[in-house]
Order: sequence, then structure tokens, then C-alpha cells
Amino acid sequence: MKQKIWMLPDKSDFLRQRTTKLKTIGSQARQLAEDFFDTWDTVAAYGIAAPQIGSSLRSFIWKGKDMEEPEVIYNPKIIRAYGELKDYDGCLSVPGVYCPTRRAEVVELTGLDAEGRPIRRKYEGFDARIIQHEVDHLDGVLFIDRIDDLSEAYTLKEGPEDEEGDVTYIQVPADEEIKAWVERFRRPLPGYALVW
Ligand code: NI
Repeated sequence: MKQKIWMLPDKSDFLRQRTTKLKTIGSQARQLAEDFFDTWDTVAAYGIAAPQIGSSLRSFIWKGKDMEEPEVIYNPKIIRAYGELKDYDGCLSVPGVYCPTRRAEVVELTGLDAEGRPIRRKYEGFDARIIQHEVDHLDGVLFIDRIDDLSEAYTLKEGPEDEEGDVTYIQVPADEEIKAWVERFRRPLPGYALVW
């Protein structure tokens, strides 16, 4: 069933909890996967983690750049992370504000696929960034915790239509009110992204 996206500030406590590993990939896991897929079609996102739809199970759905369809991964764990890339970050649970963050360029991930089979995969670049963002959610970490320069935060404003008639977006520096809001809810991590 389609679920609401849980957001700051109302769901702050829940979004800050650590999730629980699934013991078996059974009916509970299948129900969560169904909710993920039903919700996926209603939002524009690279990934949705379980806490964002009110579940405390260790799982997320995501879609990498070469994937035709989104996929669900259970019990994900980053076992290696290296390199560094600073790029765009944003989150459905932190609506309306974006900011670059530094994250590892490459990650190696273990977990279980939709059928419960063990996986071990390596991701690079933006795919690695999505994986890190989603795994962070499962440990109660939000992207705002990874910001090291809040002056780079921005919001998006609708710009003119492009040649195909699609709406374009313009980055507008976040105003003081938005920055104060982020500051209130963020829990800065020591160092930066590469804390595993
Ligand atoms: Ni997010």
C-alpha cells in the first residue's frame, strides 16, 4: 500500500532511530517491499529507506543509474568505503532543502536481495552516494548531519520551461530561516562522511 513519507520535524524521533535487521525474508519483508514499490511511484526519489515510510526494518528501495527498475535490499551493510566525492544531496524527509555533502566515491555493500539471496556489490559515483544516503537512514543519520558548510545549502525555484516544455529549476541560496531550521535538526557527525 502507498505510504506517506515521514518527515522532519514531526517524525524526527522515529527517523533518528536505528533499524532492526530482518531475521528472515518472509511475509513481513514482502509486505514492506510492496509498500516500497507502491510508494515509489508517487514520489521523485533515488531511494526510500524503511524509516521514511514508518518501518523500523533494515531495508531500502533504490534505483541506480543503469537500472531499469528500482530494487529492494534487505540488511544492507557497507563493508568498505573509499575515495571522496562532494556532490548534491537532498532527502524527501527533509523537504525543500538541498546541500552538497562529502561522501565516499566507492562503496562495497553486502545484504540480501528481494528473494533473500546474499549479495555483495561495488558501487561508484552517484550510485555509491545514494547507497550511503539510504544506509545512513537505517542508522538514524540524515544528510543534514553530513553537511560541512551550511552556507552551500539551497532551495529550488521553478524556472522557465525548457525547449520541450518541461519545468526547469533554479537553485536559490537557502535563506537564514531555512538554515536555522536545518541547524536545529541536524546532528553533525565528527569529521565528515567517511565515518563507518
Ligand atoms: Ni533521504
